[in-house]
Amino acid sequence: MKLWGGRFSKPTDKLVEQFSASLPFDKRLYWEDIEGSLAHTKMLGAQGIITDKDADAIRGALMEIRLAIEADDFDFDLADEDIHMAIERALIDKIGPAGGKLHTARSRNDQVATDMRLHLKRTLIVIAGEVAALQETFLALAEEHRDTVLPGYTHLQRAQPIFLAHHLLAYVFMLDRDAEKLKNCYQEADVMPLGSAAMAGTPLPIDRESVAKELGFSRLSDNSMDAVSDRDWLISFTAAAAQIMVHLSRLSEELIIWSSAEFDFVEIDDSHTTGSSIMPQKKNPDVAELVRGKTARAISNVTGILTLLKGLPLTYNRDLQEDKIYLFETIDIVSSCLAVTRGMVGGLAVNVERMAEAAGGFAVATDYADYLVVKGLPFRMAHDVVGRLVRFCLENDKEPVDLTLEELQTFDRRFAADALSLSDPKRSAAARISPGGTGSESITSQLKTARIKLDELQEWVSSGSTLA
Ligand code: ARG
Repeated sequence: MKLWGGRFSKPTDKLVEQFSASLPFDKRLYWEDIEGSLAHTKMLGAQGIITDKDADAIRGALMEIRLAIEADDFDFDLADEDIHMAIERALIDKIGPAGGKLHTARSRNDQVATDMRLHLKRTLIVIAGEVAALQETFLALAEEHRDTVLPGYTHLQRAQPIFLAHHLLAYVFMLDRDAEKLKNCYQEADVMPLGSAAMAGTPLPIDRESVAKELGFSRLSDNSMDAVSDRDWLISFTAAAAQIMVHLSRLSEELIIWSSAEFDFVEIDDSHTTGSSIMPQKKNPDVAELVRGKTARAISNVTGILTLLKGLPLTYNRDLQEDKIYLFETIDIVSSCLAVTRGMVGGLAVNVERMAEAAGGFAVATDYADYLVVKGLPFRMAHDVVGRLVRFCLENDKEPVDLTLEELQTFDRRFAADALSLSDPKRSAAARISPGGTGSESITSQLKTARIKLDELQEWVSSGSTLA
C-alpha cells in the first residue's frame, strides 16, 4: 500500500507508477533528505510534538538507512515514487508506527524544496572550487608566458601583438565573474522553506529557526506559498552555469583553432585528445569540442527551467518534479567541463616561435600610427599615412621589418631612426602600458589583482566546505 493510499480504492496503474516516479534520479538527494529529516525530528522532539523516545528511534533508524544507501544495500522500489517516500517507508519498516511520526508538520513540498537547496549549496562550493582550480592553472601558465608574444585578433584577423599572459588573464577575469555569480546563487539558495508544510504552514508549534540553524540556512522563507513553489534560485544557477559554459566554450573554440596545423600555436596533450578510426595521422581536439557541444545543453537548461515555471499556478504542481533533471544535469555538465578544461589547459604545449612569427608582419601597423601621433600628427591622418604604407608593402611584397628609413620617410618626414624598431612585435606589446593593456606592468598588476581575488575565492570555498 502507498503511504498515501487511504482514500484510494484501486491500485496505481503500473505504467503510471513508472511514469510518475522520480526515484531513479532523485535518489541523488538521499543525503540531504536524511539531513533534513534528522533536523526536523530533533525539533519535533525538542518542541514536545513527538516524544524523545520516538525522536531517538527515528534518528537511529535514519542513520542506519543512510549507511545502507551508502553501502549500496538499500532496496529502492519504484512503487515508492521518490526518495522521500522510499526513506520514510524504510523507516516505518524498521521501527513501526513511530516512524510514521517523522512526517508531522511537514509535506514533501517543503521537504523537496529544502533538499534541493541544501544540495545546491553543497555543490556550489565544489563548483566554485573547480573554478578556482582552473583559474590557478591559467595563472601558472600566464606567469610562464609573460614574455611570449602572439597576435591578438579581432574578426579572427591579426590585430595587434599581445603577450600570451594577457590573453590567458582574460579568462581568469571571466572566471572571476563566474565565481561571483556562483556566490550569489549560494545566497539565493540559502533560504529554508522547511516548515511551510504543504503550502499554508502548520498549526503545530514548530520551531523553524532551530531547524534552519541545524541545517546551516541563514534565512527562513517568508511566505509558505512562495516557499514551496519558488525555483528562482534554480533559474539563477542554470544561468550562472550557462555563463560559465559559454566561457569554456569560447576557450575551447580558441584551442581548436590554435591547435590546427594552420595556426599551430598550441598542442593539446595526447591525454586530452583522441584519434580517428580511419585516418592514422589524426589527433583531434574532441575534449574541447565536447565542452563546446555540452554548452548547448547548459544553455537549453536555462530556457528549460524557465519554461517549466512559466505556466504554474501557485503553489506546488507536479511539474516541479522535473526541476531536478535540470539541476542535476547542469551540475554534471559544468563540473565535468571545468575539470577536463583544467586538465587540457594545464597540459598545453605552447609553440612560442610560431606565435612570435605570427605576431610579426602587419600586426604592428597601429604602432606606426601611434608613433606619428606622438610626433604631432592627428591620429586620423597618421592612420591614412600608415594605411598607404601597408599598401606599399603589400604591393612590393615587403613586411614592416623590411622597410628602410628612407622608405619610411617618403611616407612621412617625421619618421626617424627609432622608427625602425616599430616592426618588433615584442616592443609593440610592451609599449601598451595603459592600465588593463598588454604591457608588462599591466600584466604584473593584473596578476596581482587576479591573485587577490583568487585567494578570496579559495577562502570562501574552504570556509564553505567546512559548513557542508
Ligand atoms: N517527487 C516530488 C518532486 O520531486 C516530491 C514532491 C511531491 N509532492 C506532491 N504533492 N506530490 O517534486
